[in-house]
Amino acid sequence: MTSNETGATAESAAEAVADLCGDRELVVVSNREPYSHDREDGAVVVDRPAGGLTAALDPVMQRVAGTWVAWGDGDADREMVGPDDAVAVPPEDPAYDLRRVWLSDEQVEGYYRGYSNQVLWPLCHLDTAKVEADPAFWAAYRDVNREFADAVLDSVEADPVVWFQDYHLGLAPRRVRTERPDAFLAHFWHVPWPSWDVFRAGPQYEQLLDGLLANDLVGFHTDEYCRNFLDCVAAATDARVDRSSRSVSYRGRRTFVRAFPLGIDARRQAELAESDAADEWWSSFREEYDVDPDAALAVGVERLDYTKGIEERLAALERLWEASPEWRGDLTYVQKGTESRSGIDAYDRLQDRVAAEIERINDRFGTDDWTPILALTDHLPEAGITALYREADVGLVTPVRDGMNLVAKEFVAAQTRDPGALVLSELAGASEQLGDEAVLVHPRDPVGVADLQRAVHAEDVFAWLESTFETATAIERGRRSVREPDPRATDD
Ligand code: G6P
Repeated sequence: MTSNETGATAESAAEAVADLCGDRELVVVSNREPYSHDREDGAVVVDRPAGGLTAALDPVMQRVAGTWVAWGDGDADREMVGPDDAVAVPPEDPAYDLRRVWLSDEQVEGYYRGYSNQVLWPLCHLDTAKVEADPAFWAAYRDVNREFADAVLDSVEADPVVWFQDYHLGLAPRRVRTERPDAFLAHFWHVPWPSWDVFRAGPQYEQLLDGLLANDLVGFHTDEYCRNFLDCVAAATDARVDRSSRSVSYRGRRTFVRAFPLGIDARRQAELAESDAADEWWSSFREEYDVDPDAALAVGVERLDYTKGIEERLAALERLWEASPEWRGDLTYVQKGTESRSGIDAYDRLQDRVAAEIERINDRFGTDDWTPILALTDHLPEAGITALYREADVGLVTPVRDGMNLVAKEFVAAQTRDPGALVLSELAGASEQLGDEAVLVHPRDPVGVADLQRAVHAEDVFAWLESTFETATAIERGRRSVREPDPRATDD
């Protein structure tokens, strides 16, 4: 098995965080919470999202005992908090505070379904036709960002280190900065940053840039997104943009802009692929769906989102079965699509179209012994998803636009046996790291897959954490000394 060549581990990542923070409190701010409380059959149960980022940050937060501020959307969340709206987590061994922000239905509609997911999401994924510039969305986004910022300010006494996550929170840094000029503020933007001609299609570009430039450090997955961001700042503001140091001087402060490609916990993924739970899941799946062991298996796993290219992929598979009838019965495609952002028209319509297309294609080519597309809609345990990756001959990761795409990395890390090929869209951020090997890999070429695995293990989530916090520490040391900041150089 390959190992992480940068040597980053959960422990070393936590040390990098502790180095920056010193005695100061670390506050992570994200839309989604790392633990939610829900009621099931009268009892309160704890739900832990399987997402890579929350899973990776949780051990770090436990180690540095900070505060995590997030939207409390569990139906029993309010019952579990104290008077300060915080609950100590993890529930079995409390180590840090989860401070919940409460949103009314109207706020969820305007801030989450509205501005975040019908303005910023399509804009950042270059789908300007889907942008719904409703002024009520913007008003709710502003209000909710203020509430997140106030929750940060209420939770800490001295100058904290605050780390904002993603496009839901573009304005919160400015409010925190105004109240705490000496706090260290960083932001990681998990989706692409578009070019200026696209970004300006959103009417609030100036306010969003003003919000983000309140940070000391802004991180993106790739160099291309950093360049796009700097272009937008140069075009839309009176800031001084220094491309050689990748920094921006604005309103008396300096913001550094850096690429930190997010990774996964690759070692854990490889272990999960070899677990008994994965074996058991795979046997029962084969039995239930009568999977022919000699037929090829392709797999696609994603949220049902129009950026993921699912309809285009189904059309390509249909063409394949049409033009090459020898693949009928010999190639089965498993589509695991998770319902997402329901209540937004574009998502509701996509779900309906995908279901209808799968039914139509199955009717067209299916026989008594073979179903071309197996659509899995029920919840799949992590071990089940990993088993699917492990057994698949082909992983189809073909988004029309994607900030990074961690499924591509999970698929590669799970190839612990007979390796399958990764078919990866060049429009996913992950193609900057995996693109050459992914396109060169042959389904029966273990060498190419080994190279891919090395890349996934070397640049895992702990390497991402460590490099983010090492850069932040360099900036902070520079800021606190008389000298100019001296952050780690990047190869521009
Ligand atoms: C994307 C975003 C994340 C978000 C995730 C799930 O990956 O970058 O911030 O958490 O989608 O979407 P949801 O709307 O369910 O939080």
